[in-house]
Amino acid sequence: MKFAIDTTPVTKVDTPCLVIGIHEDADLVGSVALINDSSNGAVQNLIDSGDIDTTWKSTTLLHGLDGVTAERILLVGCGETDKFSPVRYDHVCAAAGTFLRDHAALTAHICLHELDCGESEHWRLRQAAVAMDRANYRYTATKAPKAHDQDPLTSISFNVKEELQTALNEARGLSKAYLRSRELGNLPPNFCNPAYLAEQALAIKGSYDNVSLEVLDEDDMAELEMSALLAVGRGSANESKLIVLKYQGKEGGHQPIVLVGKGITFDTGGISLKPGQNMEQMKFDMGGAASVIGAFEACADMQLPINLVCIVAAAENMPDGKAYRPGDVITSMSGKTIEVLNTDAEGRMVLCDALTYSRRFDPLAVIDVATLTGACVIALGHHASAIMSKHDDLADELLDAGNEAIDRGWRLPLWDDYQTQLKSEFADMKNVGGMPAGSITAACFLSKFTEDMRWAHIDCAGSAWKWGEKGGSTGRPAGLLTQFLINQA
Ligand code: BES
Ligand code: MN
Ligand code: ZN
Repeated sequence: MKFAIDTTPVTKVDTPCLVIGIHEDADLVGSVALINDSSNGAVQNLIDSGDIDTTWKSTTLLHGLDGVTAERILLVGCGETDKFSPVRYDHVCAAAGTFLRDHAALTAHICLHELDCGESEHWRLRQAAVAMDRANYRYTATKAPKAHDQDPLTSISFNVKEELQTALNEARGLSKAYLRSRELGNLPPNFCNPAYLAEQALAIKGSYDNVSLEVLDEDDMAELEMSALLAVGRGSANESKLIVLKYQGKEGGHQPIVLVGKGITFDTGGISLKPGQNMEQMKFDMGGAASVIGAFEACADMQLPINLVCIVAAAENMPDGKAYRPGDVITSMSGKTIEVLNTDAEGRMVLCDALTYSRRFDPLAVIDVATLTGACVIALGHHASAIMSKHDDLADELLDAGNEAIDRGWRLPLWDDYQTQLKSEFADMKNVGGMPAGSITAACFLSKFTEDMRWAHIDCAGSAWKWGEKGGSTGRPAGLLTQFLINQA
């Protein structure tokens, strides 16, 4: 979806749809007041007669108002003024985006950024564009459109000063990040396998002069002794890949930020097979990889003045005669040995070697992103990604970025007290830490491979997708990551 500036007065904009927010307990102000005036009080009359729902997130469509050039006006309820907040604002914009996706208009002129939610105009503009773009999404890659499906929006415009173009550029980056991440997440596992992720990386590389790509196959990884990563993919007919994208936005030897993504394109659990119910959801187990690829693409799109490396550990976890098994002791690339107690704890196996590999880039910071534990869904549900780090400043930067993008995270402790749960009789560590604090012990496992690095771990098991009929990939936490990169620039 395109974002444009159009400074035509609101009563004269030639658009299929004007989108305006109204509170349930305030006088009409701004654009809606102007429209009310030029239509001889039509909007106020409809409110007074109870024909406009002003409760939060409700939508009412008006047609052919006198004195107004726009064909239609979509009024979005904002609820009570004193309850209004940045999060509520975000939902209002999303409600407008979903409505327009499912209705006739293909373009719209948006006035929602006029709503006062306590944030700057830059933020309100950017967030309106991103929220509407996300809400405008519909999955079509592997199905025919339904006859009654309306076409989604192709562009939206805002009446703002030219200098706010920067906000729209950020919005374009953030939207690209979410879209790429979401589409990869939603693609079925027989389409989106490790080789497919590598192809997508190649496509991104092809679009930017300052992006380079290296794809390591299983032989290359064997050479590097990445036995933990290779163990996971051993039961699969699809070859594992380590995908390394590099972006140079700053000349010279500036240290890069490194993003590492868990790219398990399907997680059966392996020999420790998962139950059949809901197993299809494990196609989303590459959500971490999808969001780091999305954030990488956004960074290149915005040409941020930073250096960035994106590493995707891509593999498929299958049961097979060649598969790794519970009881195996595996020597990771770092030299540390791992006793496999459960082949379903495969994410940390692929990530530990990818994290060891990341050392060669001498990173400013390393952030791994993974749908790592079911325990994370139990702890935080689908609303927050878990953030774990021993570096308070890095954790805070990620939390701030999440709040700013409304792609929120919540910090869990990573105290050494939890490390004892990983003690093994037969190796340097076990790959599982038992029932208590499953998300934290998974992070503790990874921490053994990131000593002396400025590192944070994001568990997006709850945030990367939603269950159920209207579910599917959310693209998260690509927004948090992209915002973090914007803030680093
Ligand atoms: N991909 C799963 C984590 C997951 C499960 C994410 C459900 C979202 C919903 C991961 O590979 C896994 O299976 N983790 C195990 C770890 C356990 C064996 C220690 C889990 O969470 O059950
Ligand atoms: Mn698993
Ligand atoms: Zn997994």
